[in-house]
Amino acid sequence: MIGDLRIKIPIIQGAMGVMVSTAVLASAVANYGGAGTIASVGLGYGTEENETNFVKASREGLEKEIRQAKELTQGIVGVNVMVALDNYEDLARTTVREKSDFIVSGAGLPLKLPEFTDGTSIKLIPIVSSARAAALITRVWRKRYNRLPDAIVVEGPLAGGHLGFKFEDLDTSYAPFL
Ligand SMILES: Cc1cc2nc3c(=O)[nH]c(=O)nc-3n(C[C@H](O)[C@H](O)[C@H](O)COP(=O)(O)O)c2cc1C
Repeated sequence: MIGDLRIKIPIIQGAMGVMVSTAVLASAVANYGGAGTIASVGLGYGTEENETNFVKASREGLEKEIRQAKELTQGIVGVNVMVALDNYEDLARTTVREKSDFIVSGAGLPLKLPEFTDGTSIKLIPIVSSARAAALITRVWRKRYNRLPDAIVVEGPLAGGHLGFKFEDLDTSYAPFL
């Protein structure tokens, strides 16, 4: 359970950007009872508009993927939006407008995320790689927005993706939460 979201099989498919985890993969996962994640980065690629108006092309690409996922499944599908993106706010607001089930947000600290989702029940799921980051997000969200994360993704140094670990940390004995 993530709030009132009931994920029958407790597997959340991680986002893979630049058209790897689009509506097709995310909806297939959701149809099997897991939670699918559409990666919002790089969805405007391949369109002419991407060269002239990147923000609009990305937004329209994301709208298309969320709508397609809704056609392909009644299951649970969310969107990953990386804080480091220039169009982070636009993609987060698009995700909320399109009524996705959740936003997973890492690659930076999603301290302002609740600002873009105010008044909706979309689930907010930060990705952290340290207890310090989880505590900071929780403290700031509670103080500024009276809101808490609905779930937290914890990634250690052996996960794939954009992590904040140094080369020396890539060691199985590293235990960030001890
Ligand atoms: C090819 C690839 C692309 C990824 N793209 C994203 C992304 O766009 N946004 C993101 O937050 N994480 C991204 N990740 C990280 C994954 O969503 C996931 O959090 C990470 O791989 C940890 O899960 P794992 O241990 O099962 O690999 C990517 C990972 C891979 C391997």
